[in-house]
Amino acid sequence: MTIKRTWWKEAVGYQIYPSSFMDTDGDGIGDLNGIRSKLDYLKELGIGFIWITPIYESPNVDNGYDISDYQKILSTYGTMEEFDLLLKEAHKVGIKIIMDLVINHTSNQHSWFLESRSSVKDDYRDYYIWADGTIDGPPNDWVSIFGGSAWEYDEMTKQYYLHVFAKEQPDLNWENPRVKRDLFSMINWWLDKGIDGFRVDAISHIKKAPLETSSENDPFASFKNVPGIEVHLEELRDVFKNRDILTVGEANGVSAEQAHQWVGETEGYFNMLFEFDHISLWNKEEQETLDVVHFKQAITRWQEALADGKGWNALYMENHDIPRSVSSFGSEETVFWKASAKALALTFLLLQGTPFIYQGQEIGMTNMPFASIEDIDAVDTKNFYYEMIHAGVEPVKAMEVIRRTARDNSRTPMQWTAEEYAGFSKRKPWMVINPNKQEVNVLDELADPDSILNFYKKVIRLRTENQALIYGTYKLYLPEHPQLFVYGRSLGEERFIVIINLSKDFASADLPKNVRIEEWQLELCNLNEHTIHQHTIFAPYEARIYKHKIAKQ
Ligand code: NOJ
Repeated sequence: MTIKRTWWKEAVGYQIYPSSFMDTDGDGIGDLNGIRSKLDYLKELGIGFIWITPIYESPNVDNGYDISDYQKILSTYGTMEEFDLLLKEAHKVGIKIIMDLVINHTSNQHSWFLESRSSVKDDYRDYYIWADGTIDGPPNDWVSIFGGSAWEYDEMTKQYYLHVFAKEQPDLNWENPRVKRDLFSMINWWLDKGIDGFRVDAISHIKKAPLETSSENDPFASFKNVPGIEVHLEELRDVFKNRDILTVGEANGVSAEQAHQWVGETEGYFNMLFEFDHISLWNKEEQETLDVVHFKQAITRWQEALADGKGWNALYMENHDIPRSVSSFGSEETVFWKASAKALALTFLLLQGTPFIYQGQEIGMTNMPFASIEDIDAVDTKNFYYEMIHAGVEPVKAMEVIRRTARDNSRTPMQWTAEEYAGFSKRKPWMVINPNKQEVNVLDELADPDSILNFYKKVIRLRTENQALIYGTYKLYLPEHPQLFVYGRSLGEERFIVIINLSKDFASADLPKNVRIEEWQLELCNLNEHTIHQHTIFAPYEARIYKHKIAKQ
C-alpha cells in the first residue's frame, strides 16, 4: 500500500519546555520571546514544527498542566500578542507550531471548578466527578498516578472529587455533554487562530470505569483506556476533521495491537501516538543497563503494528517527563558520552514515523546531579520522595533513586553557552543549571564539526533527502542480538541499513547473508570511518548507516 504524503510525516519535531528554553525578560523563567529568538537555530537544525508544553494561565502546581484559563497566556511567558507574533514569525521561516491540549483535567483554580465545588446544586457541579465517601473514607480504592488516593475530600460540600494526577488537577467529567461542548469550542478557537495542531495530554484517561470497580491488579486500570472511551474520541476526532493539522495523543495504556484503531489513516482518532512501551523499559529503579532485546521488541511491535499505511508512529527518546536519554539508555561517562548520544540519535530518528527531539537532547544534555530534594520542583517526585522517607528509606538512598528517576532531570535550563547562567538568562534561573554547561552547550557544539549537534543536523538532513527513510518499510535484523540494534528501511530500489551498538562493550556479529557487503556504502558513522565486513566488530556505542549502492546511481 502506498502511504499518503503529508507535511507532518516529513517534518522533524522539537519539543520546547518553555520555562527552561530561553529567558529574554530577565526573570529567570523562559518566555515566548525567548522561543522566537531561537527560531533560526531551530530552522538551521532542520526542524519543521515545534510542540510547546502548556503556556496557558496556571497556578503551576504541575508546571502548566493545571490550567486555570485555556484562552490566556501565563504572564511569565508573555502575552497573547507575543504568542501571535511567535506564530507569525515561525510560519515565516517554515516552522509550524503545535500546542499542548490538556483536557482530561483542569486546575482547581479554573472558574468551572470554583463554581462546581461551591454547591452540589451548582450548574457546573457535573463538570467534575464528585462522589460520597464510604465508611473507609474515599468512594473507592483508586490511586492517583502522582501517589496517594485519587480522591480529595472537599469540606465545602462534604463530597470527594476525583483527580488522576495531583489533587489540584480535578478530572473533568466527559460524560457531561456540556463539558465536551465547552472544550471543543476552545479547541476550535485555537485552531481558528492558525496553530498547526495539538499534542493531546493524558487522553487515554478521559473515560472512567464504574466507581464500584476495584483497582486490584493494575492500580490505574480504572481510568486507563477504559472501554467506551471510543465514543468520546470519535467526537474529538470530528473536531479535528477537515483541518490540515498534526495531532499526537499521549496514550498510556494503549497497546500496539490497538494502535491502528487510534491512528488509522481514515478512521483514527489522532495522526500518531506517544506510546509508553519502549520508555517503560527504563523506569525500573534498580536497572543499570538497557535490555537491548526487549527494547528492540518494543520498538518493532509498534513499527510493525502501524506498517503499510495502517497508521503512523511518533518517535521519541526524551520528553519533559523522563530523565535524559543519554543518562538512561546511553552513558554519561566521558569516554562514551558523545558516541552514545549520537548512537541514540540513529536509534530513533530514522525509524518509521515522525521524530520528536526534546530540547537539549541534540547537544547531549545529561541528568542533573541534584544535591537535595529542595532542588526538585516536580510535584510527583516530591510525593515519591516523602513516601520513601515515611516508609523508612534513608534520605541518602532516597535521593539516589530521585536522581535517577526524577523528571526534573530534563527540566534544567537549556545550555546555550558556558556562561554562569548558561546563556539561558541574565539572572539565577527558576531551576538549577547542570554544572556540565562548560562541556555541553550549543555555542561550542555549533563550532565543532564532530559535535552531537552537528551529527543531529546530518541525520536530519539524511532523512529529509531520502524518501525511504520517511516512507520506507522497516525491517529488524538480528532480533536476539543482546547489544546490536540493526534495522533496514527500504522504498522500491532505495535501501538503507542502520547498525547501532547500544552497549559499552565491543560487539561482534555476522551480518545477514542477504546483506552483501560490497553493495553497501557508508553514509554516516559516529566514530572513525569504517568499512563494513560480513563478520564485523563494533566499538562501544558505535553507530553506522549504509545505503545500498545500486540505489545511489
Ligand atoms: C502528562 C504530562 O506530560 C505531564 O507532564 C503531566 O504532569 C501529566 N500529563 C498531567 O497533565
